[in-house]
Amino acid sequence: MDLEDLVGRSEIPEEFRKPIELLINLLNNSPDHIYFKDKDSRFIAMSKAQAERFGLKNPSEAAGKTDFDYFSKEHAEQAFRDEKDIMDTGRTITKEEKETWADGSETWVSTTKSPLYDKNGKIIGTFGISRDITKPKKDEEEKAVLQEQLYHAQKMESIGHLVAKISHDLNNHLTPLLAYIPLAIDEAESTRTLSSSLIEGLRGCNLALEKARNLSQKLTDYSKKEVYLLMPLDINLLIKSSYPELVPLFDSKDHSLELELKSTYLINADSSQFNRILPNLVSNSRDAMSEKGKVTISTNDLDATATIIGRYEQIRRGSYVVLSVSDTGTGIKDDVLDQMFLPLFTTKGSKGTGWGLANVWSIVKGHRGYIDVLTELGKGTTFSLYFPAKKN
Ligand SMILES: Nc1ncnc2c1ncn2[C@@H]1O[C@H](COP(=O)(O)OP(=O)(O)OP(=O)(O)O)[C@@H](O)[C@H]1O
Ligand SMILES: [Mg+2]
Repeated sequence: MDLEDLVGRSEIPEEFRKPIELLINLLNNSPDHIYFKDKDSRFIAMSKAQAERFGLKNPSEAAGKTDFDYFSKEHAEQAFRDEKDIMDTGRTITKEEKETWADGSETWVSTTKSPLYDKNGKIIGTFGISRDITKPKKDEEEKAVLQEQLYHAQKMESIGHLVAKISHDLNNHLTPLLAYIPLAIDEAESTRTLSSSLIEGLRGCNLALEKARNLSQKLTDYSKKEVYLLMPLDINLLIKSSYPELVPLFDSKDHSLELELKSTYLINADSSQFNRILPNLVSNSRDAMSEKGKVTISTNDLDATATIIGRYEQIRRGSYVVLSVSDTGTGIKDDVLDQMFLPLFTTKGSKGTGWGLANVWSIVKGHRGYIDVLTELGKGTTFSLYFPAKKN
């Protein structure tokens, strides 16, 4: 029986008609979701708005049903525990909660649940009032992501400037040293004008200079994205030509490397720079896999009709070739994800230089592209590089 039917019944005393009418009004017209449950958490009654959320035409269809009929098992169990706690303690619970529905979709509500009393003051169930806050919650989450992305972009940009400046100054200081120290050693050796220990010292200086030149080269490579020579190229040909160089990176029989090259669009690429990407990504994947594992390099065309929100940046709509490198390795922890594109960041101790991903970032930026990373601990990682493309 609907509550509406009650008001018309002759046995209902006049003084009860008004409160029943008010209750009916509330249940029919409140945009908030209101429900009453018995002590076994079965629905007794609910508002129209609540019934609509459950896809019901009439609130009475929910009578006798429980959250287990509508939500995921985990969510229904949590609600059941909350309601038991309310009935045991007489407390009211107010919270923001994520609801996971039986089909896996997620919504957010701000909810208050209280005990339901009979006229003797005995708890006979619960009632709840909740309001959908999915939109503000999603907006909040999106804002936090955008904030994080802005911070990451600013960090990468200021490091780029810093590296460019150090690289320039270091080069200037090194140029005369690199020219004159070897000459001084040669001359000192041939004329024997210096003691052997001083010549030995100069040789040490020369070795240190070589290392400094190496570092300077790395800094220059990282900061020279403005001088790329971009021309339309087929990314699949570039990958196939560097494939023989990638295979030896796998020394174990149980590691496999697969290509799934499906893109058809051309990208604007500087082949000498582009070819430095895959050895870095593939060797990282290899390092992340124990004895067994698979790395897949794939390419696909993508026509993005809306902005894609990646982990580090927003990928503008447009046509792309997406180059992905996936592995079945360890996955990457959040704190590493935050720092791994920074120069010199490594978790490999003396075995890593920490330049690999920094260079990949710089090269992708030199191609006006974007990077996104999806990772799951214990399952693996996919690096996706988005290169602006022209349809063939
Ligand atoms: N596919 C991956 N799986 C797990 N961790 C990864 C992966 N790729 C990168 N990393 C993490 O990111 C860090 C930085 O990588 P990057 O390539 O810049 O430096 P590196 O590999 O440590 O040193 P180098 O490249 O000089 O050998 C790595 O030390 C590792 O912790
Ligand atoms: Mg590396």
